[in-house]
Amino acid sequence: MRKPLIAGNWKLNNTIAEASQLAEALKTELGNNTNTDIVIAPVFTALASVTHICASSSIQVAGQNCHCVDSGAFTGEVSAPLLVDAGCSHVILGHSERRQFFGETDNFVNAKTHAAINSGLTAIVCLGETLEQRESGEMFDVITNQLSLALNEITPAQTENLVIAYEPIWAIGTGKTATSEEAAEVHAFIRGLLSGLFNHEVAEATRIIYGGSVKPNNIGALMAEADIDGALVGGASLTASDFIAIVNYPKPLKVVQK
Ligand code: PGA
Repeated sequence: MRKPLIAGNWKLNNTIAEASQLAEALKTELGNNTNTDIVIAPVFTALASVTHICASSSIQVAGQNCHCVDSGAFTGEVSAPLLVDAGCSHVILGHSERRQFFGETDNFVNAKTHAAINSGLTAIVCLGETLEQRESGEMFDVITNQLSLALNEITPAQTENLVIAYEPIWAIGTGKTATSEEAAEVHAFIRGLLSGLFNHEVAEATRIIYGGSVKPNNIGALMAEADIDGALVGGASLTASDFIAIVNYPKPLKVVQK
């Protein structure tokens, strides 16, 4: 059984005081929850405060990005070992906003994935198609390329520290969620790709989470799909009550077909 993982991507929001207040509110409601892996990703400047608050709880903290080199003359960057030093256990890599606004390529995401896993972080590697790619029938090719390049030379053993986030770009921040069927189709496809890139065991063990306008009112249907193992939540993770409701989604029994 794959343990559900719900991650909140706070993006470029919240002062240290605001981030601390949000982390405290989440800790009060979710801090003892061990049924779901709960991860929050504040801005770098709030990491120290948020990791301090979450240290005595089951809430884990992620960086929103890291560089592929550990240290040196890379002005403005933060490395994977420094995220570990700040108390992080996870890092989000290859988010579509990084790709779109900061020119990150699949190869760069691959280098970062190696750096993150080698430092002991769990890499949440994001991928997903644009609406144009979906409508022109290129979606499966795009996903295949993104996944195989991002995971180039990652070993089966390293996948223990890997989570894949499927985030259709047209659903991010738009209020347009993929239907649970649309998402489930791509999740099943990605699991098949993982089986081909690694093996059946890795494909069965690796969590594939969905991102793109996840809200309290759609998380239940998404999580009811056998291949959807959690969510990467943007906008709704900035409001404590919404994120808490997402983590505490109603849990019907899943029917797993063999
Ligand atoms: P959203 O963002 O939930 O606001 O659509 C998701 C993401 O970008 O990870």
